[in-house]
Amino acid sequence: MRHLMSPMDFSVEELDALMDLAVDIEKEPAKYAHKCDGRILATCFYEPSTRTRLSFESAMLRLGGKVLGFATADSSSAAKGESVSDTIRIISSYADICAMRHPKEGAPMVAASKSWIPVINAGDGGHQHPTQTLTDLMTIRSLKGSLSDMTIGLCGDLKFGRTVHSLINALCRYENVKFVFISPPELRIPDYIREDVLIKNNIEFKEVIKLDDVMPELDILYMTRVQRERFFNEEDYVRLKDFYILNKEKMALAKKDMMVLHPLPRVNEISVEVDDDERAMYFKQVRYGMYIRMALILTLLDLAS
Ligand code: CP
Repeated sequence: MRHLMSPMDFSVEELDALMDLAVDIEKEPAKYAHKCDGRILATCFYEPSTRTRLSFESAMLRLGGKVLGFATADSSSAAKGESVSDTIRIISSYADICAMRHPKEGAPMVAASKSWIPVINAGDGGHQHPTQTLTDLMTIRSLKGSLSDMTIGLCGDLKFGRTVHSLINALCRYENVKFVFISPPELRIPDYIREDVLIKNNIEFKEVIKLDDVMPELDILYMTRVQRERFFNEEDYVRLKDFYILNKEKMALAKKDMMVLHPLPRVNEISVEVDDDERAMYFKQVRYGMYIRMALILTLLDLAS
């Protein structure tokens, strides 16, 4: 039995196979429409979600399976004090696979250690969000043709942004990928990413504060939201929340084929006027997320072939 806690749980070859499967599912959905007949996915979400939970549910339904679960901690027995370890033992009797989101870093890992079914980390605090990374890799590969030879700018909350942490880990394994980290000083990437991932693997990167200065050199701009829920005080959040706003003027500085991605939800960091720019790919990105989650469910349930 296999779980997914981090994008590093899959080798580059396995990620390629997963993305190839997702491409085939998109091309020939009828071939996969009954692959999960009789199987059940549990979505256990202790933190709010639109995309991740609903794309997992849509993925399982499109594969012929069924879904059950809870969308808030308050509507589960966590509100009565039940531990994640106990809850997953219960879910293991009801479902065949579980996607879990939790505000505490490592909670899905604890669940996996007690589970009798595959557990997928659907986002744990400010730590990792591996299925968003699968979505991002699939989007980049599909739209750029490759995951190598590019300069990617990551902008916004790089300290608490779990999508950013997972994506850096994953992209470090591809050839000639350079990073530009754009953030206010308070929201820089954590030391463990800078030292244990980037420096250790000799990855080229720089950290800057101003977005305008680096726009012309980027092949991809990955915008992120400043996350109110991760701040310890409201004052800091209010001071930093509109630090970056991507608008038409900034887009005019970018390459003609630069691609704008965002894990979403978006608040103010991308002006709605950018939505009509042909380089804005964040709504397309969402659809890739569903196909890659279909491929992931099939793979973890050993139903891919
Ligand atoms: N990208 C993402 O995780 O969105 P949700 O929080 O809506 O699931």
